[in-house]
Amino acid sequence: MSVSDVGDKVVQLAKRRGFVFPSSEIYGGAGATWDFGPLGVELKNNVKRAWWRSMVQEREDVVGLDAAILMHPRVWEASGHVENFTDPLVECGSCRKRFRLDELPDGEALTDAWRAGKADLSGVACPSCALKKLSSPRQFNLMFKTFVGPAEDTASVAWLRPETAQGIFVNFENVQGSMRRRLPFGIAQVGKSFRNEITPGNFIFRSREFEQMEMQYFTHPDQAAKHFDDWLVARRQWFLDLGVPESALRYREHAENERAHYARKAVDIQFEFPFGWQELEGIHNRGDYDLRRHSEYSGRKLEFFDDLTNERYVPHVVETAVGADRTTFAILCAAYDEEPDKDGVRTVLRLHRSLAPYKVAILPLSKKPELSGLAREVWASLRPHVMTTYDETQAIGRRYRRQDEIGTPLCVTVDFDSLVDRAVTIRDRDTMEQVRVPIAGLVPAVRERLER
Ligand code: GAP
Repeated sequence: MSVSDVGDKVVQLAKRRGFVFPSSEIYGGAGATWDFGPLGVELKNNVKRAWWRSMVQEREDVVGLDAAILMHPRVWEASGHVENFTDPLVECGSCRKRFRLDELPDGEALTDAWRAGKADLSGVACPSCALKKLSSPRQFNLMFKTFVGPAEDTASVAWLRPETAQGIFVNFENVQGSMRRRLPFGIAQVGKSFRNEITPGNFIFRSREFEQMEMQYFTHPDQAAKHFDDWLVARRQWFLDLGVPESALRYREHAENERAHYARKAVDIQFEFPFGWQELEGIHNRGDYDLRRHSEYSGRKLEFFDDLTNERYVPHVVETAVGADRTTFAILCAAYDEEPDKDGVRTVLRLHRSLAPYKVAILPLSKKPELSGLAREVWASLRPHVMTTYDETQAIGRRYRRQDEIGTPLCVTVDFDSLVDRAVTIRDRDTMEQVRVPIAGLVPAVRERLER
């Protein structure tokens, strides 16, 4: 199956099986915001857990943080977002549709011309209505503005954060001091970010409210380039370890004119989405831009004093920034598989076992009370250990297919022999192998199979 075929199938499956729903759907949707259903929240939580485990738990040089979304408005002036976090927007004078300049046909050349002050859109057709009535580009700030307190005056302006990173920069001194950290060390955070994207789309790839998993690595300026290269390798490896195939990942370095206002160097880890190669994660060398600007705007010296070398300096920062929603989408696309079987096609989500929403499905062979009694007992014994589900409706073959489609690695079947031999059958999603195990040893047998 080609990569482009996978897109529609994943989106349909995500809705049908309770992974992702359009937000406020009964009111016609809320415009590029999404709700994660019962299976989606499990999958996304597992993605975030896997990230935290590899970025914080397994490292000796990174600690965690959970900063507030609403911050002092000066933060966003210091960070450069009020001035620079903009996209050039054009509007069609006929159909009123709005587009990002760089997304028009020949958008890159138009953007270069616009940056040089020479953009001429008089000959460019609107991608929607085809009339040549596009406006000149204007800068559009992507931050959502809101007001803190009852008065909507300028003193109470607040911004919904467009990146989690600034919560980390403003806490550099707090974390470094309270945790007595020497450099280099990192601060990791997972949380919501908001961007008023002009052209959101492609399902949960680009939305207006999303979650980021970001880490700022504070280092001596001379070491930043080395750490940048190390993080590039480590972050790609994380996706590989979660089962994303090597062929679906590549690096892409940003040209100077593409880089965000804070970045000295930027390399994307791209994934081959159904709609083409796109950024999955950004690795940025932010230099001392953020700490210097926050020092300037807050009046607090954000420096590090190395008592071993007697050197005082403003740390440089290497950032790794990835979307939890975008990663979830990539993981779903990479896991989607169809294979022929005797009933037609078997759809399987070959999710890494650590990411699967349910680890085990308990399936009594029949609904008869004597069987469901034992099956429920088995279910209760597994629930404290792993995420489980229970299904007793329809033929067993169909129930296996239903679990394959949502990526459940193991099905435990309780049959009439189970009443006599106190044993059940474990069926594996990938090999479809079936093994009989005693109920008394089910928890370790499941654990062992989930770690394979
Ligand atoms: N702090 C740096 C930063 O935010 P970015 O490249 O703008 O860098 C990092 O964003 C990651 O956040 C992206 O690689 C992507 O995975 C995710 N992301 C950014 N905008 C998004 C959006 N509108 N919807 C979903 N995910 C988004």
